[in-house]
Amino acid sequence: MVSDDPTAVRCTDIRRHFGEGEARVEVLCGVDHSVRRGELSFLVGPSGCGKTTLISVIAGLLEPTSGAVSLFGRNLGTMPPDERVLFRREHLGFVFQQYNLLQALTAAENAAVPLLAAGMRRLEAVDRARALLDRLGLGSRTGAYPRQLSGGQQQRVALARALVHEPRLVICDEPTAALDHATGEAVMELLATAAVHPDRAVLVVTHDSRVYHFADVIAHMDDGRIVRTEAGPSSPVPTSPFPSTAPA
Ligand SMILES: Nc1ncnc2c1ncn2[C@@H]1O[C@H](COP(=O)(O)OP(=O)(O)O)[C@@H](O)[C@H]1O
Ligand SMILES: [Mg+2]
Repeated sequence: MVSDDPTAVRCTDIRRHFGEGEARVEVLCGVDHSVRRGELSFLVGPSGCGKTTLISVIAGLLEPTSGAVSLFGRNLGTMPPDERVLFRREHLGFVFQQYNLLQALTAAENAAVPLLAAGMRRLEAVDRARALLDRLGLGSRTGAYPRQLSGGQQQRVALARALVHEPRLVICDEPTAALDHATGEAVMELLATAAVHPDRAVLVVTHDSRVYHFADVIAHMDDGRIVRTEAGPSSPVPTSPFPSTAPA
């Protein structure tokens, strides 16, 4: 089901606009970008440059106007819809900027959703979710409902939901934005651990320069394009497949 392509994510000339006529806005203007397996890759850039739109296209949540996305060698665009749903459910974890938790479920139940969707027994699924929430410093809040949690706590529940089924690709939109420094570090450590695997990868959109030291690769986006890709501080020597334009 998953090929031996060395890339986790490959975007080829992705374009996407919103609106028509005078209201038409070109948001993605030909994005070529790759994330390799085993990589913790950052996507950074000014607000409004298209980061959330790009990761939504990569995750299959939004159709590109043109261009192709392949995940682990599988082209999302040519996959039959049913298969795409299953592929995403099994191989993808996504943390939305606005968390998107289910208000009627507790923190542990929210985090357990991907396991329940995969058919795991409820008790076991919730137990696993609790253990992960505990590692994220939420051990005492697993029975709380989203409205009883702070923004930072909800963000970590969303992160647990994205990681609990150990998907091959984890995509996070600003995962440390609502967190204090120590909690942000703990979250990034968990993401870095998830990426250190030959068949997995993590793609993080962030504005948070406090966590840049975790990056294997940093891709800079502006005006709907990737303008520069450089090896990050955490890169194990120059392994980036991209021409680095970082200062020597
Ligand atoms: N559904 C939409 N309809 C119209 N415009 C949108 C929509 N989603 C995003 N945009 C516009 O696309 C641009 C990029 O948005 P976004 O991808 O959210 O940027 P970023 O995540 O980098 O801040 C913004 O100008 C935004 O207003
Ligand atoms: Mg955004």
